Amino acid sequence: MSMTATAQWAALPDHSAEIARVREEFITAYGYEPDGVWSAPGRLNLLGEYIDFLGGSCLPMPLPYRTYVAGALRRDGVLRASSLQMPGDERTVVIRDIQPGHLKGWFTYVAGVAWAMNQEGGRDIMLPDEFGADLLINSRVPVGGGLSSSAALECSTALALLELSCPVRDECPEADATPADSDALRARLAQVCITAENKMAGAHTGGLDQTASLRCRQGHALALDCRDMSARQVPFDLSAVGLELLVIDTRAKHSLADGQYGSRRADCEESARILGVGQLVDVEDLDEATAALGNERLAARTRHVVSEIARTRAFIELLDEGPLEGVRLAVAGALLNDSHDSLRDDYEVSCEELDVAVEAARAAGAHGARMTGGGFGGSAIALVDAHAVEGVARAVAAAYAERGWEPPHFIRSLPGAPAGRLD
Ligand code: GLA
Repeated sequence: MSMTATAQWAALPDHSAEIARVREEFITAYGYEPDGVWSAPGRLNLLGEYIDFLGGSCLPMPLPYRTYVAGALRRDGVLRASSLQMPGDERTVVIRDIQPGHLKGWFTYVAGVAWAMNQEGGRDIMLPDEFGADLLINSRVPVGGGLSSSAALECSTALALLELSCPVRDECPEADATPADSDALRARLAQVCITAENKMAGAHTGGLDQTASLRCRQGHALALDCRDMSARQVPFDLSAVGLELLVIDTRAKHSLADGQYGSRRADCEESARILGVGQLVDVEDLDEATAALGNERLAARTRHVVSEIARTRAFIELLDEGPLEGVRLAVAGALLNDSHDSLRDDYEVSCEELDVAVEAARAAGAHGARMTGGGFGGSAIALVDAHAVEGVARAVAAAYAERGWEPPHFIRSLPGAPAGRLD
């Protein structure tokens, strides 16, 4: 049975309106003008899934959906924050008293960044004792969509705290120079945000999300080598060749996901230990490795990791060769498809909602489609001819309607601006 369905598109945030809004809300909350507004984007990972914590390569790009932070300096060592997503939940903490395990909910990410800046930021990132701040946060990255809403919160907070602290420092680090000029400092700030996520929020994720949010540039994908977090900007302009990336937010969330990320990571570490390599990125012969593991589950995990690393390298080479047209487009689509199949079958982090979205998009003419991010719900992406985007979205919506599922949300992955001060 085929059903007609309309595609529900997520509205694109209007930057100027968002900046004005967060400024006004700051004044309403605290009764005075903020010193500035900072923001950082959510990310979309084109390829290279579940390999950031194994020294693989990833290929993220920034989305036009961002977290906005209006902030002002205070000189009493106190951090106060409120979020438009959490009305009535204003939080206050003395920065030097912040400890892992003491905080709850969204504020863990905010205070966690201040804590991590002091733990491992180095002299130019550590916050002076008297430094304090008032922050007002508005997150416009779809939460639970696998598009890094928590990294956008951490990274916008880090930029705000660093620049707000300038008047109480001897020297001011140039985090808000153009991202190209400040990349080395941003790489260190990303590391601070990763520490906040790992040690304060207790999520043992890799560094893909925070690095993407701070170091991506508009019109480019970021070829990120997670062995040493070195990164290269790769021009990525799909519109010039009549293409678009359709983002399908399944809006599915599975409780099954609890603990699954950590168990995949443990499987990979166990495989590396058995194989006697530092990280799975060092495996040279996949057949030999899977035979040596002698365990079907570990062999499958290793197969995903090694093949995903090869796919990502191949995709980056394709982009380096030229625009995605003709054979290059066909190969790129096949790499996306193979990535999904590997995440579904060997790594087992997909789910029915993602699989149905991917299959429906492929059947409706997408050049390639895959889940993106951590999986178990969240989003899928489809590489589609720009003129066919509406039709592909309708086909996915119809596949959901046929199953009686809540309609997915569709997001246009127009290039997002880099993280930074906006006003
Ligand atoms: C989540 C994690 C990242 C990365 C992806 C999977 O987004 O936060 O570090 O591991 O999953 O690629």
